[in-house]
Amino acid sequence: MNPETLKNTAHEIMSPGKGILAADESTGTIAKRLASIDVESTEANRQAYRNLLFTTDGVENYISGVILFEETLFQSADDGTPFAKVLADKGVVPGIKVDKGAKPLALASDEKITEGLDGLRERLAEYAKAGARFAKWRGVIDITDEQPSDYCIDTNAHALARYAALCQEADIVPIVEPEVLMDGEHDIATCERVTGRVLKKVFEALDGQNVLLEGMLLKPNMVIAGKKSQKQASVDEVADATLRCLRRHVPAAVPGIVFLSGGQSDELATAHLNAMNQRGEQPWGLSFSYGRALQAPALAAWQGKPENVEVAQKAYHKRAKNNGAAAQGSYSS
Ligand code: 13P
Repeated sequence: MNPETLKNTAHEIMSPGKGILAADESTGTIAKRLASIDVESTEANRQAYRNLLFTTDGVENYISGVILFEETLFQSADDGTPFAKVLADKGVVPGIKVDKGAKPLALASDEKITEGLDGLRERLAEYAKAGARFAKWRGVIDITDEQPSDYCIDTNAHALARYAALCQEADIVPIVEPEVLMDGEHDIATCERVTGRVLKKVFEALDGQNVLLEGMLLKPNMVIAGKKSQKQASVDEVADATLRCLRRHVPAAVPGIVFLSGGQSDELATAHLNAMNQRGEQPWGLSFSYGRALQAPALAAWQGKPENVEVAQKAYHKRAKNNGAAAQGSYSS
């Protein structure tokens, strides 16, 4: 492990006013996204969609890193340039999702554990050769009346730490993503309690497995009421509860926190990030690693048609620009 390489990559990703595009939808997830615009999920269509995103002019002013799915890392742009090189040539750091998805947790009732540790050291070496400099692993925690169990939190925290240690050994910055889902009817206070429990265990596991906090990034959910809750919280309540929870549980040595959007509307995801950055200096940088909140308008504008590429790129550019502003607390709608 080279600590300087890790710290430099983490700092590059956390450049002021910039964040991450999560374009690492697995084959199953991208099929759902493409189905929403009546486009079939063929390899050619997936390449065309990612080509649209990665060749959008000017987004490099707001996007410092892109998370790719394995298939995409080994694909090329329309002009034959590998996607990883297209990004790197614009000063955007290529990253890779390395988990193999959330699977049923054995002997638990309806909870999930993320798999993908077997053979990960060898895969990381291949990804690094292809240009990846950071990685992502997502653990999934669901809130219900009885859940999450300590068993689910502990096993996911342990797997996240094992993944992070393997990444750092390969000089790849791990993005540690424990996502507390916003599905369900719970209120914001419940989300804050569960998110706190999860972060506490995650940082214990990272510490127990020698992970260098200065050479990683955290990708948490915001503290927010469940989608089906009758009591939705205001933008200010979300910003205050999220910051309180993070300040209690995330060591100041972590250089950056990059939020997932998790099913929030694109406008709200921007407003929440902006409100947090308007609260003044925090121990860590606060930015975005959005999937849906950056892509939704572009996907809708594209419709799978070459003649719509330009308007789709404009829509993506606008989301990137607004979130870049929110990462500095200077967004106004
Ligand atoms: P969303 O922003 O759509 O939640 O996606 C981010 C991500 O990478 C989830 O793992």
